[in-house]
Amino acid sequence: PRAPAATLVIFGAMGDLAKRLLVPAIVNLVEAGIIDDATTILGVSHHDADDAALRGALDEFVEDKQGWKRLRDRITYMKGDFEEAATFTTLAERVKGNAVFYLATAPAFFGPVADALAKAGLMREDDGFRRLVIEKPFGTDLPSAQALNARLLAKVEEQQIYRIDHFLGKETVQNIMVARFGNALLEAVWNSRYIDHVQITAAEAVTVGTRGKFYDATGALRDMVPNHLFQLLALVGMEPPNSFDADAVRTEKAKVLAAARPVQPDQAVRGRYAAGTVGDKTVPAYVDEADVGENSNTETYAALKVEVDSWRWSGVPFYLRTGKGLKARDTEIVVQFRDVPIALFRDNGAAAPMMPNRLTLQLQPDEGMSFEFVAKKPGPVMETAPVSMDFRYADRFDVGHQTGYETLLYDVLTGDQTLFQRADQIEGGWRVIQPLLDAWASGAPDDYPAGSSGPKSANASIARDGRQWNEIA
Ligand code: BG6
Repeated sequence: PRAPAATLVIFGAMGDLAKRLLVPAIVNLVEAGIIDDATTILGVSHHDADDAALRGALDEFVEDKQGWKRLRDRITYMKGDFEEAATFTTLAERVKGNAVFYLATAPAFFGPVADALAKAGLMREDDGFRRLVIEKPFGTDLPSAQALNARLLAKVEEQQIYRIDHFLGKETVQNIMVARFGNALLEAVWNSRYIDHVQITAAEAVTVGTRGKFYDATGALRDMVPNHLFQLLALVGMEPPNSFDADAVRTEKAKVLAAARPVQPDQAVRGRYAAGTVGDKTVPAYVDEADVGENSNTETYAALKVEVDSWRWSGVPFYLRTGKGLKARDTEIVVQFRDVPIALFRDNGAAAPMMPNRLTLQLQPDEGMSFEFVAKKPGPVMETAPVSMDFRYADRFDVGHQTGYETLLYDVLTGDQTLFQRADQIEGGWRVIQPLLDAWASGAPDDYPAGSSGPKSANASIARDGRQWNEIA
């Protein structure tokens, strides 16, 4: 169905997110013909600019195709300070009917802008829907996330709030539910009886570069774990929802996080890249990056073991890791199955090595799914070898160039909250890592050379459980 016409008000319209991702995504939706032609964009920011300047700034980022030609004239600009009441009274005069307020701003403005929108009557749904989209980071720990939720919910209904986690916009992330609940084969073995453990990796080759100011105050744990990695964990761990309704799905996801034990410091490892080479590029140590504090103890790598106390997952650890300045960009979920009960086959008389089945969901790059299993090597002597069945998105589907925000924006416009985080999910995520946030406020991370697969301590930590990390490649 076509999304109804609405005004998309972007706070922070001159920022990177708006220019690189949001507007190009809207253009793709226009191009695909699935949003109403009367959709308009109103950019708000403190910059001295006008309609022409905003359109001009966007030209650079948007492919010059039909959709852009149709949308360009429907983009307008309003200069406004996010902290001045006048901005919102003017906005109230300009915005009529359906509207989406997208806070592509620094997090410090989330609360104040939401308050001001509500105060100016802009969140009242008298003549159309009014929705609020909030980017991450949503809080910096459990108390601040609770406080922000309380502040928003005092003025705005949960049904109006869309807390973005851009990982949920990725096709391969949405595919997790389809893989599990659309295929009889997988769900039948998706539990502690057959699964030994799960590994979730979001490795990045990029270093912190020019983002030092944001990153040094944030670190790998806050930046990636309670949001992106926990969303993946929840999708892998959730029970089948009764329906694909937003709240049915979100309730099941929230339950996984509610069953996860808060992670203690001895179940986690933090790392920080030292100087090294990533690909063929020499990179400086994290501590020598621009805008990194002199006594910084911020981690650029985090690995943790999460235990989920539920009927399905009791005794099946989820190992999570993420970091920057690693040897490759590799986002994947590996589900490792248990060994068969006895080693029946003999290679040259000796028991053939047991090779557990593994299902890998490759989220990026080279999106796909592969299943590793054991086969008999051809020949008169009984020998076994690991083999793999592979599905690559690019081989089967025409994926085209997408920003990753198309589905999310379309869902906001059609009022589907499935892929957005509810208050309880956000708080559930922070709750699980709060002991680590407390512990990591002091002390220092373990160094790893940039371009490697992380600190040695992360390997040692999983090895204590008799397991090892899948190779980052
Ligand atoms: C963002 C983090 O939320 O996700 C970044 O702030 C990180 O530090 C990014 O690089 C990773 O997203 P993607 O889509 O590139 O895997």
